[in-house]
Amino acid sequence: MILENDFSFFDWEYLQLEKPTDIYVKKLSNMKEQFIDNSVVLKILSSADLVLYKVEKFEPEKGKGNLIFSVTSLYPGTVGREYFFTQGHYHQNDFAEIYICLKGKGLLLLKDKNNEQVYNFEKGSISHINSNFAHRVVNIGDEMLKFISVYNVDAGFDYEKVIKEGGFSTKIVKSENSKSYKIETL
Ligand SMILES: [Fe+2]
Repeated sequence: MILENDFSFFDWEYLQLEKPTDIYVKKLSNMKEQFIDNSVVLKILSSADLVLYKVEKFEPEKGKGNLIFSVTSLYPGTVGREYFFTQGHYHQNDFAEIYICLKGKGLLLLKDKNNEQVYNFEKGSISHINSNFAHRVVNIGDEMLKFISVYNVDAGFDYEKVIKEGGFSTKIVKSENSKSYKIETL
């Protein structure tokens, strides 16, 4: 007997999960300390909040060794000169993660306590993120950037550790002529 797929379904046309178990959004107000220019952040927030990204997540039953599958949609845009990015986290436990970029043009930032690295991350990129690196995606294109992530249910998101280390010092900003991006280090 062939069983129906009881898990989820991925819509390749719209690049979205059809039966997510959870959906959440991250807004500028949730990440306001992480942008370079606080005065721009406050100015934007005085009139409206911005959704920076949305995550659709499919989490199977809790169980040791199980995996979570999620799809992140990171909007295009900037806060002042700085491109939108995902918050960025370490995993609470020593678990790696795979990112697969479905659409868009971005950069993947990795950091540990002493170093930061920047990788191209665009449609077709597959990145294996080692367990000891915090990870953040930046959308440097003018369309939505979408990526799949697959990670262990026990990986957890440790945002505090990134903050304690002073955040990502690599900043991705518009170039002087606004036609491209440049990398600045704080
Ligand atoms: Fe992660």
